Amino acid sequence: MFFGENDQNVIERVLRARRDVRGNRFTDRDLSDSDLERILAAATTAPSVGYSQPWEFVIIRDPSIKNAVAKIFEFENLRAQTQFENDRALQYAKLKLEGITETPVNIAVFYTPSDKPVLGQTSMPDMGEYSVVCAVQNMWLMARAMNIGIGWVSIINPDKVKNILNAPKQNKLIAYLCVGHVDQFLEKPELETLRWEPAKVLSSLVRYDNY
Ligand SMILES: Cc1cc2nc3c(=O)[nH]c(=O)nc-3n(C[C@H](O)[C@H](O)[C@H](O)COP(=O)(O)O)c2cc1C
Repeated sequence: MFFGENDQNVIERVLRARRDVRGNRFTDRDLSDSDLERILAAATTAPSVGYSQPWEFVIIRDPSIKNAVAKIFEFENLRAQTQFENDRALQYAKLKLEGITETPVNIAVFYTPSDKPVLGQTSMPDMGEYSVVCAVQNMWLMARAMNIGIGWVSIINPDKVKNILNAPKQNKLIAYLCVGHVDQFLEKPELETLRWEPAKVLSSLVRYDNY
């Protein structure tokens, strides 16, 4: 199968329009099982080192579990604020950086290591985890194409979250995602609009043949 100009334009539009959605733009609308399954199915089409497909997903709808994770976020977020200084600390304190309890579904995405050697992962052991990140990006893009928002929350203690979810010891938490319908998608990354970070220009990122 070959794609045409229209397909290329669509994927480019989805890539550009994908946003990290925080709590204040999620709506009360529930997420249907079929929508959820479509997003998860997109994850499983991701590339993976040695075709190891080293991902597992914990779907969280139980409010008591979400509340417990939200407490972990609050603790870590207060700790995070102390790492920034002056204006930056004040600005950080105002940011909304998760949508754990506002979203109908949270998804904890895990890396499940293989118990045998994985083709392609023998020299660079992190490749398994990178494969799971590819799956997360697929979910993010598929959800955006369905007008569903995803927010990635990483200001959490992974061991505490694993504990709450009874995750096997060898599994690694890669992503904690908040998923739900939204009332809007921002045009630009919020951190760019708020001047937390500027957008990098492509030409400043590319070297030819060497550094
Ligand atoms: C690995 C990873 C972890 C992230 N963790 C958080 C987070 O804990 N809280 C948050 O608000 N955004 C988080 N984000 C979202 C980024 O802040 C966001 O992607 C970036 O500001 C660009 O905005 P955009 O995704 O809307 O384009 C994370 C993104 C990635 C890729």
